Amino acid sequence: TVQGDMGDRAAPNGSVQQLPRTIIIGVRKGGTRALLEMLSLHPDVAAAENEVHFFDWEEHYSHGLGWYLSQMPYSSPHQLTVEKTPAYFTSPKVPERVHSMNPAIRLLLILRDPSERVLSDYTQVFYNHLQKRKPYPTIEEFLVRDGRLNVDYKALNRSLYHVHMQNWLRFFPLRHIHIVDGDRLIRDPFPEIQKVERFLQLSPQINASNFYFNKTKGFYCLRDGGRDRCLHESKGRAHPQVDPKLLSKLYEYFHEPNKKFFELVGRTFDWH
Ligand code: A3P
Repeated sequence: TVQGDMGDRAAPNGSVQQLPRTIIIGVRKGGTRALLEMLSLHPDVAAAENEVHFFDWEEHYSHGLGWYLSQMPYSSPHQLTVEKTPAYFTSPKVPERVHSMNPAIRLLLILRDPSERVLSDYTQVFYNHLQKRKPYPTIEEFLVRDGRLNVDYKALNRSLYHVHMQNWLRFFPLRHIHIVDGDRLIRDPFPEIQKVERFLQLSPQINASNFYFNKTKGFYCLRDGGRDRCLHESKGRAHPQVDPKLLSKLYEYFHEPNKKFFELVGRTFDWH
């Protein structure tokens, strides 16, 4: 049963389940897991472990907010609950649904170079097939059709950030959506995480010493109370080699959309 104004649900030991006060809405392959794990270093943050897919999957959404709440971790009342479902960003129905739950909610969006995101997206699906021992076409087979860039490839559409961002800005003011620079989060996570702390009005408790560069992994890993951990091996995989000419076509394809996105958010990013 749902109790309280915000739909808190109490457990015997005084901990509660709370609806998220912030959601990492995407983008798929932007670094959403890294962002969630890094934010979880903060003692006032309670993160849902799995992707909840409440607002984008009809079957889940039809269960209502009580179900959504039941998916949240137990936390102390002062903690801020966060969930991440990267598919939210590119699902047209989701902004209105999030708004109807809480129009004042703060949203986190992590983006990276749109071309790099396409390669990462391909790599993810490639490995999913490999795991099931199913064959999967090469990236060229997706990217090229009749000698031209195949603009119908779904992964390209997910990187058209301005299209998706427009849907969100119909329901939320820009100042309620904090954009994390996913390329910077890879190279130097601490400053990006500090910005997130400030945006969420959390006390500054995450430190530079919470991050160390792991040469073997080639990425930053986390140090949490003396415990070291890197993200799962599926995070930070090598991308396929793509013919430089094709890569240029990809960069060119995103040039205009990127400009539109920069105008939309009043900020530029260091993308190809
Ligand atoms: P690649 O595996 O293509 O390099 P998501 O969690 O949204 O699926 O994003 C996955 C991406 O997070 C990875 O894509 C990787 O580049 C990025 N990432 C950012 N910080 C990372 C970190 N510290 N360790 C591993 N991957 C990280």
